[in-house]
Amino acid sequence: MKLRNPDALDFSYIPRKMFFRERQVSTLQANIITPLRMGITSNLALFGSSGTGKTSTVRFILREEKGFTGIYENALSYSSLRALMTDVLSRVGKIVQKNLGFPEIFRSLDRTLRAKQANLLLIVDEATNLLKFDRAGLYNILRAHELYGCPMSTVIISMEDPSMYMTERERKSLGVFSTVLFDRYTRDELSRIVEDRAALAMSPEDIDPSVIEYICDLAEPFGSARVAIELLQKATYMCLYRNGESISLEDARGARSMISPYVTESKLAELDGDELTVLLAICRSLRDDPSTGISDVISEIGSVCEETGTESIEPGKVYRIIRRLENTGLIEGKIVGKGDRKGVGKMLGVNDIPVSVLEEKVTEILRRKM
Ligand SMILES: Nc1ncnc2c1ncn2[C@@H]1O[C@H](COP(=O)(O)OP(=O)(O)O)[C@@H](O)[C@H]1O
Ligand SMILES: [Mg+2]
Repeated sequence: MKLRNPDALDFSYIPRKMFFRERQVSTLQANIITPLRMGITSNLALFGSSGTGKTSTVRFILREEKGFTGIYENALSYSSLRALMTDVLSRVGKIVQKNLGFPEIFRSLDRTLRAKQANLLLIVDEATNLLKFDRAGLYNILRAHELYGCPMSTVIISMEDPSMYMTERERKSLGVFSTVLFDRYTRDELSRIVEDRAALAMSPEDIDPSVIEYICDLAEPFGSARVAIELLQKATYMCLYRNGESISLEDARGARSMISPYVTESKLAELDGDELTVLLAICRSLRDDPSTGISDVISEIGSVCEETGTESIEPGKVYRIIRRLENTGLIEGKIVGKGDRKGVGKMLGVNDIPVSVLEEKVTEILRRKM
């Protein structure tokens, strides 16, 4: 396997199209971009949990839209909004000695912008802390036009709705600004996003659709495109590292274990011989499938017991052991429909660690126990 475009697997990659963000993109265009081109300033707050596309949506807008000067700042790099604005000033070409107050900063910014005949769009990303602790700075920035005549619109980005931390009075003093929610992605939305990235980064034969499905299963509880794309990236590198032909489920499981390392050893140490036997049978049934049914596991137990020369385990006990293994978190059970009128069944999977690694460890412990 050879990557066509590794950049597409990176977080900082700005997609050609922001899927499922039409509403957010058009709110930005209607409330901020179009008015700003005509010299009308306004402010907007974007909020939503991690990986919901806030940063890439504003980056996308800055790339696609023309007719103003756009500056992106990450608030985490600054101790105050005043320090952040000093950097903005230097980025429009005005190098200043430190410690200017807001009036000097904005007057200087205003002169520079007018000389260039440009209106400014300032993006303040990851602003949660500054929003909470720098009210004076926020007031100056959101009212820059009224207070200093400076033609600047601001978009602030945070995880939560900023008006949550504000009293009614503060909201009034900061002026009305609209907020736009970035909601978590659904399972289907995540698969569309991951499919698109995979299609850009590699050839179709490099990744099986079942791997993409599996990655989306893992990312779904977070609703996060970031988690999904990180899993895709790590799985790809695991495959390249082992010189694999195509990305396997094992690579994706490995990617997950890199994202959330799990204490498997200590859990294994507590299992008895029968429990280890059942776990080994589950691992073997999972070699080529993302999940397995209990009947497959039971027949696999037969062959494990034959190999180890131990007595087979009766089905009632197998069910009890499986429940116990689920409680330890070593395996995960999911109830699924078996299709037309065949009722429901339980499917088992291992997510935290590559199955081959788990299988090796369990085999090793079982051997020591014999
Ligand atoms: N709607 C989308 N369409 C395509 N890619 C997306 C979308 N939303 C997020 N992504 C991708 O997911 C990753 C995380 O998105 P990001 O914008 O950094 O999220 P946030 O800033 O909300 O934490 C990025 O690689 C981004 O390109
Ligand atoms: Mg972000």
